[in-house]
Amino acid sequence: MARIIGSLSTSHVPAIGRAVAQGLQDDDYWRPFFQAWPPVQRWLAEEKPDVAVVFYNDHGLNFFLDKMPTFAVGAAAEYRNADEGWGIPQVPPFQGHPALSWHLIEQLVAEDFDITSCQEMLVDHAVTNPLQLMYPSQQWGVKIVPVCINTVQFPLPSAKRCWALGEAVGRAIRSWGGDEKVVVLGSGGLSHQLDGERAGFINRDFDLAFIDSLANDPQWATRFNTHQLVEKAGTQGVELLMWLAARAALGGGAQKLYSSYHIPISNTASGVLVMGAGC
Ligand code: DHB
Ligand code: FE
Repeated sequence: MARIIGSLSTSHVPAIGRAVAQGLQDDDYWRPFFQAWPPVQRWLAEEKPDVAVVFYNDHGLNFFLDKMPTFAVGAAAEYRNADEGWGIPQVPPFQGHPALSWHLIEQLVAEDFDITSCQEMLVDHAVTNPLQLMYPSQQWGVKIVPVCINTVQFPLPSAKRCWALGEAVGRAIRSWGGDEKVVVLGSGGLSHQLDGERAGFINRDFDLAFIDSLANDPQWATRFNTHQLVEKAGTQGVELLMWLAARAALGGGAQKLYSSYHIPISNTASGVLVMGAGC
């Protein structure tokens, strides 16, 4: 049976892709951010996952405001980056795992989640950033299964619902008959707001409490409704729902292995969290 080795959650910002493309990792501005990653890369080198199931939010690239699924799962053989923003960085395409994707879709629909299945899917910085940081050589060590959660167009799914989705994805992975080792990624957050009167808003206390909660009181964030999350984390900070879903996929007995927090990268509080799955 497939085994979940753990979760890896991280913030994403288009400028990270640009910093990688331009080799700016050792610049004064970027060093504190990139130096959080070698321990994560060592963990990956030891664990050698075969597949990454990636909870992420699309930013209007693959889905736009005219059609916005709440939950969508990629079932493509290949995913290409077609990001907005800093030009289209030339990262190699990501290999998919359509059989595992369809297993997830079937299991989720059987559990009453209404899933949009995507046999063709473009991905943006929310998928490319974590993979670029995990594998600086850009030789991707994993196939990917993208699981997209809407955080762009209201109404958003609640934290409670994202927790339930994460749990169901965890069950689906564990019931897959292959022998793959799976890492679950959460890409988004932490606190940030890109628009409106509070543009530039960051909430360090809330971010640190949230990271801590994932180890010590994992369903803590499900107590907040969407408006409360926006209030505490910013309009785009609600992307932290990806971290919550990734944590839920691990089930009980998960332990924190590593975390890092740095303010800011672009307009965003950047965090990294690695958790090992329980037995
Ligand atoms: C930034 C952050 C994001 O989450 C995003 O999707 C785009 C930009 C930023 O801080 O610049
Ligand atoms: Fe984002």
